[in-house]
Amino acid sequence: MTLPDGLRLRRAHPQDLDDVMWLEHTSFPTDAWSASQMSGELYSPHGYYVVVETTEDGAPTIVGYAGLSSLAGNPVADVQTIAVAAEQRGKGIGRVLFTELLAEARRRGVHEVFLEVRADNPVAQAMYTAFGFERIAVRPRYYQPDGVDAWVMRAALEPAAQAPTSAPSPSSTVGPIGQEALDDRS
Ligand SMILES: CC(C)(COP(=O)(O)OP(=O)(O)OC[C@H]1O[C@@H](n2cnc3c(N)ncnc32)[C@H](O)[C@@H]1OP(=O)(O)O)[C@@H](O)C(=O)NCCC(=O)NCCS
Repeated sequence: MTLPDGLRLRRAHPQDLDDVMWLEHTSFPTDAWSASQMSGELYSPHGYYVVVETTEDGAPTIVGYAGLSSLAGNPVADVQTIAVAAEQRGKGIGRVLFTELLAEARRRGVHEVFLEVRADNPVAQAMYTAFGFERIAVRPRYYQPDGVDAWVMRAALEPAAQAPTSAPSPSSTVGPIGQEALDDRS
């Protein structure tokens, strides 16, 4: 699974707040998080946020972001959010972001991942289903002010491969991506 040319995946940092908020408002016009909520997420020690940015046309521009949250030692994690700029959708960026969240969940020893998605969002539901998530509950009128139900979805994670004690394989040494950019992580 690769990103299209000219795009790269990296760990988000608090300085990304303005770019992320711009995408947040365009992606979730009626129920966007506030800047202070998003800032709390980007600073949270429990969070893991990643962005995809384009390196074309001069200064890097963020075209997608996604976040996971889990308490240390907790075998459960929540997908907090994911969004891709409208003009960049359908190119595999969402899949790369989501794959990285699940990879981090495995690195943290998480066994179960939960998320909520609007009942009227079949595109996101299709992506989550493709990753093995199943609807386990409905929260009526959870999304306000629209009064749209939330689907609660869950997936069980296979544990990450254990590193052999004597001869570690390259894949067993892969850790979370840092703040530096990394192309083609998946
Ligand atoms: C959901 C979202 C992040 C997907 O990002 P994306 O980069 O377009 O997704 P990808 O191109 O990587 O596609 C991933 C999967 O999503 C699903 N998908 C993507 N576009 C789809 C479409 N138009 N119709 C149906 N399913 C679609 C497919 O399952 C696809 O997998 P496939 O290519 O193997 O069929 C993006 O549509 C988005 O930002 N939506 C607005 C914000 C949002 O709704 N976020 C989710 C909140 S819960």
